[in-house]
Amino acid sequence: MAIDHEVETTGLVGWIDRRFPMTSTWKKHVSEYYAPKNFNFWYFFGSLALLVLVNQIVTGIFLTMNYKPDSTLAFASVEYIMREVPWGWLIRYMHSTGASMFFVVVYLHMFRGLLYGSYRKPRELVWVFGCAIFLCLMAEAFFGYLLPWGQMSFWGAQVIVNLFSAIPFIGPDLSLWIRGDYVVSDVTLNRFFAFHVIAIPLVLIGLVVAHLVALHEVGSNNPDGIEIKAKKGADGIPLDGIPFHPYYSVHDFMGVSVFLMIFAAIIFFAPEMGGYFLEANNFIPANPLQTPQEIAPVWYFTAFYAMLRATTDPFKIVLMIIVALLGLFALVRARGKWKLGLPVLAVLVVLAMAFTESKFWGVVVMGGAVISLFFLPWLDRSPVKSIRYRPFFHKVFYGIFVLAFLTLGFLGTKPPSPASTLIAQVCALIYFAFFLGMPVWTRLGTFKQPPERVRFKPH
Ligand code: HEM
Repeated sequence: MAIDHEVETTGLVGWIDRRFPMTSTWKKHVSEYYAPKNFNFWYFFGSLALLVLVNQIVTGIFLTMNYKPDSTLAFASVEYIMREVPWGWLIRYMHSTGASMFFVVVYLHMFRGLLYGSYRKPRELVWVFGCAIFLCLMAEAFFGYLLPWGQMSFWGAQVIVNLFSAIPFIGPDLSLWIRGDYVVSDVTLNRFFAFHVIAIPLVLIGLVVAHLVALHEVGSNNPDGIEIKAKKGADGIPLDGIPFHPYYSVHDFMGVSVFLMIFAAIIFFAPEMGGYFLEANNFIPANPLQTPQEIAPVWYFTAFYAMLRATTDPFKIVLMIIVALLGLFALVRARGKWKLGLPVLAVLVVLAMAFTESKFWGVVVMGGAVISLFFLPWLDRSPVKSIRYRPFFHKVFYGIFVLAFLTLGFLGTKPPSPASTLIAQVCALIYFAFFLGMPVWTRLGTFKQPPERVRFKPH
């Protein structure tokens, strides 16, 4: 039985309700949205991501009032905001700290999805929209980073846009087209500003709405990874469901309070976060004639950047061998119409790798690391969703995967050395093996039987 959301018929609310679905929307998505009663710590990060999104938009609007997207004025306008505009320093630090905290919150939010199999049927689209949000967030941060027009802004953009020139045939023209000039210049700053303040935020907001609509269509997962809609009472309400409001609005309010304490502590006591949130080099105005000693992206990109740097010529050969072996495996196991498709594809990829430079394959590895996430719902074949009911070795694999990702993130902040490049290469292989091997390893081992009803201890 579907839940019937009753609406007002009298008074002002009734007047509005007859013209606009106000009460029914509130009930459907808030006061009569039944969420599993066993949400834990990991379920704070969705609402926190929403909070940070609002923070970025509001502080961004105020920054735009005094910022000048002009290469001769941009750096000075940021200094003006910091020193002259009343409370300008607070607005700027809320925005720069918000950017990093956005990634902290979103990485933890994604990890929760991984822990409890929240991407599995019927939530594939919730996850796919989430991955698209992650891509958008990366683009948003990249475009925004050029705006202060410091040394790191300039050289970071120069390095990343130049990566596109490694694409065979169209690469050089493509990077010229993105920059709008032969080097990063005023033209580039203007278009990055347009993307950062309106184009990407619009897409981002649209995707967040789609993410939540998709979630509310199927209902939330939970730490036990079982479907609460499978056990409903006579009233059509899931037996293990509680209304989002007031139960989770109050719960999330507590999460928001703790988060704001941490957020304020960073803003007031360590806004640069030891160079991780704001880099020292970016307090020097952009100088196209002087390359900084070390060009490193902000911490949230470093894991992917480390994979890019790890793709050296010898590593390309290792990748070629792996692709060839996968092709051979596909040939041996081939069935039906796919008989020759995958092995032929493998041969073509190996040939393409032999004739193109490793820089291009670095870009492919870096992009592939993000794109792999989209396929998670179809790669994981485990009979249970939640990590709670999976074999012990699955937990070990998750641990190794997280460790490899953190190691890559750390190495990406440091200048490369032969030893660190080797470690990054091993970690990159672990990252991809985790995903590519999933259809096999997620089926292995002895699984525990998940309970009929969610496990819940009232406190
Ligand atoms: C701006 C960024 C994002 C916002 C504002 C956002 C917001 C939310 C909210 C409010 C929820 C419901 C509360 C919760 O379960 O925590 C949610 C659930 C979810 N999100 Fe996101 N999200 C964002 C990014 C992402 C990303 C990048 C992914 C994954 C790649 C993702 C995957 C999921 C999944 C799978 C769920 C369902 C979880 C469950 O039911 O167990 N989200 N999101």
